[in-house]
Amino acid sequence: MNIPNHIAIILDGNGRWAKKKNLPRAMGHKAGCEALEKTVENCARLGVKYLTVYGFSTENWKRSKEEVSALMQLFRFYMKRLLKIASENNVRVKMIGDKSKFDKDIIEGVDKLVETTKNNTGLTFVFAINYGARDEITRAVRDLLNDYKSGKVSDIENVDESFFEKYLDTYPDPDPDLLIRTSGELRISNYLLWQIAYSEIYVTDVLWPDFDMAELENAITAYNKRERRFGGR
Ligand code: FPP
Repeated sequence: MNIPNHIAIILDGNGRWAKKKNLPRAMGHKAGCEALEKTVENCARLGVKYLTVYGFSTENWKRSKEEVSALMQLFRFYMKRLLKIASENNVRVKMIGDKSKFDKDIIEGVDKLVETTKNNTGLTFVFAINYGARDEITRAVRDLLNDYKSGKVSDIENVDESFFEKYLDTYPDPDPDLLIRTSGELRISNYLLWQIAYSEIYVTDVLWPDFDMAELENAITAYNKRERRFGGR
């Protein structure tokens, strides 16, 4: 089986999973964190090189105060577990998104996770937190304009796709080959808009907390049946 180099995931369905089981939404998110831990391990085991997961979007702040605070508590707890999992599985952790909006202890935890794992050579796990693709592109344009103002960038004609990409959060990592979305919705939800230009999309009805190794393999099998096209012939 041809293992995709880079898998991106929009995890969805934690709330519905909890509702189905008559549990509070926070329990759905807890189960979602456990599924995420397993997915990191499973991708590392399969030899996937990059896994980029949408953990918290710029829109997620609009959820109820209770839900946001439950998510932050889970984030604090699972970040510590992730440190252990990353060390055991040779996983390098990176973050994309604007982490400045989080509490100080969370920012410190994120920095520690990234710093401690930076020399690991297996899977690169990219966690998108307070991430939105439009926000990422807007920040990139702002940084580019500042570089123009300061003279660091002088020739506007040099600003082509590969030049612009350097300003994105994901630089220098490769684009996703496969984008997986759980729980059936056919939306991109402001995720990696630039980077998924040619990614294969796989949507499953499975709710995120139920996404396991068998489901990951189903997605990879479907990917293997695709004939990839990049616009040319
Ligand atoms: C998706 O389900 C859940 C999220 C987008 C946020 C929660 C993310 C995690 C638990 C992963 C770990 C990340 C952190 C920051 C702890 P949903 O709530 O949208 O489900 P629904 O559509 O069924 O209501």
